[in-house]
Parts: sequence; C-alpha cells; structure tokens
Amino acid sequence: MALRHFLTLRDLSTLELNQIVQRGIELKRKQHNNEVFQPFAGKVMGMIFEKSSTRTRVSFEAGMSQFGGSAIFLSSRDTQLGRGEPIEDSARVISSMLDIVMIRTFGHDIVERFASYSKVPVINALTDDHHPCQLLADIQTYVEHRGSIEGKTVAWIGDGNNMCNSYIEAAHMWDFKLKIASPKGYEPKQQFLSEFAHCVELVGSAEDAAVNADLIVTDVWASMGQEEEQKIREKAFADYQVNERLMDLAHTDCLFMHCLPAHRGEEISENMLDHKNAVVWDEAENRLHAQKALVEFLINENLKKDA
Ligand code: CP
Ligand code: NVA
Repeated sequence: MALRHFLTLRDLSTLELNQIVQRGIELKRKQHNNEVFQPFAGKVMGMIFEKSSTRTRVSFEAGMSQFGGSAIFLSSRDTQLGRGEPIEDSARVISSMLDIVMIRTFGHDIVERFASYSKVPVINALTDDHHPCQLLADIQTYVEHRGSIEGKTVAWIGDGNNMCNSYIEAAHMWDFKLKIASPKGYEPKQQFLSEFAHCVELVGSAEDAAVNADLIVTDVWASMGQEEEQKIREKAFADYQVNERLMDLAHTDCLFMHCLPAHRGEEISENMLDHKNAVVWDEAENRLHAQKALVEFLINENLKKDA
C-alpha cells in the first residue's frame, strides 16, 4: 500500500472525504462533551511554516495535544530550511523522526517535493495554489448547518487564488455547482477551469454569481506574498465586495463563509461577519475538528500500511 498524503483534495476519494467530514462532526461532539480521546500518545507532528498563521497553527497544535500527542512548530526563520538546506534533505531527516508533517509554504512544488521524500504522511496547510484543509472545515460547516452540499450552488466571489482552486476541486469531489466571479486578469488558470468545466462556470459579475446561490464564499484580495499589490488589487476588486445587498440576491437560506483573516471594508462590508447567515466562526472552529479527523485518517492509514 502506498503512503497517503493530503496535498490537494484529489488525494482522497469522495467516500474518504465524506468519512472525514462525518468523523469531524463526531470528534467535535466528543470535544464539546469533554470526552478524553487520546489514540496518539507519543505521536509527534512537525508543523513547517514559511508563511504566517493563526487558525492553522492553533488547530493542528491543539488537535495533536487533544489526541495525546504533540506538535513541533518549525518556522523557516529558525530552521536550516530558511538557510537553504534542500527540501529533499529536510524531508528525509524530519520524517525519520516524526509521525506526520504539515507544511505551509509558497510554491506548491515544495509540498510535492517534500512528500516524495517523506516517510510519513504530509498535509498541505496552504500553498500559493491550494488550501485543502480549509475546504474540509468549510464542507463540515455546510453539512452541519444545511445537510449535504451535493447538487447545491456555490458562489466564489473574488480572487482566483489558492482558496478558489480548492473550491474548484471541491465542486468536483462533492458534486456541487461552482460559479466564479473574478475581475479580469484575476481569474483561476484557464487550464484548471477547463479541466473542471463540468462543475465550474466563470460568470461576468459578483451579482451573476450570487443569484440563487446556496453558499457565498470570498477571501482576501491580496494573499500572503502579494502585499505589494494591495493598492492595485483594491482598485481591480472594487466591484467584488460581498455585502448584504449581494446576499439578498441569493436564496434566503444562503450561507456566507470566509476562511479568515478578513478585511472589513474590502472584500466584505463592515457588518458582513455579523450577517444572520454568516457561519465564519463555526467555520474557523471546524478547522480543529476536521483536521483532527484528517490526521487520524492519515496516521491510521500509515499504520495499516506498515502492519
Ligand atoms: N484560514 C486560515 O488558514 O487561517 P490562518 O492563516 O490564520 O491559518
Ligand atoms: N488566500 C489567502 C488565504 C489565507 C488563509 C492567502 O493565501 O493568504
């Protein structure tokens, strides 16, 4: 059996993704009931961060502690990675000592190269191209509030970025329709769109995307690493703010999600996070539960492989 990683949503089957979402709901119930569940005593996760994080770091680190294991925070500022030690050498060394590794970095090829030299499962905790962990939490949140997302219509409004790409893959894996509204020049890559033409549609405006949506999602206009483009992007994205007016075009029970951190007054209106259909705080909390389900799945798959 091959070693399993989670670099994009397509590394798992739809069945496995749904099992993880259901298990996330179950682990959340356990946690809320103060049940102690420590199947991974002595297991250690490596957490490699080349970009900032609040939710991802806290959720993985807390999750490993709750499982009875532990986690080591490895910033590229303080490790030899930041001084040019090759990713392949780092992967061989780090994975020889740990049970699972998560990486947040820039180029997607970095997680792919790490994974190909790793002896243990590798989780993509965000690259320039994908953020699959966020999608596990988003789908868990949708399921908890509205039931299955299959056949629903999701509106992605804003940048054709890492989150948008993971939504495109999610539309394929969970069989929902994705309408994307991005300013000219900020759409997802044409080749990626063409591959998923059966479930993804590029539309002309934020309003077109919002009409009849069951879920509206957005993200910052300038992602990590694009700070210098902030001003140019504010101009380009001015017609792409998610606000109450846009929510009124969608179905009355349409949910609103944002992976956070959010910039009030930019991609969302000042009060959007307080909208009656906004579920962003549940979405953020679900990073913990969904990723615990993912970690449990990957560690157990790896143990089965060695058995
Ligand atoms: N949504 C998300 O990944 O948040 P952090 O950047 O805080 O980890
Ligand atoms: N698109 C954002 C997501 C942050 C969680 C970024 O990459 O900075």
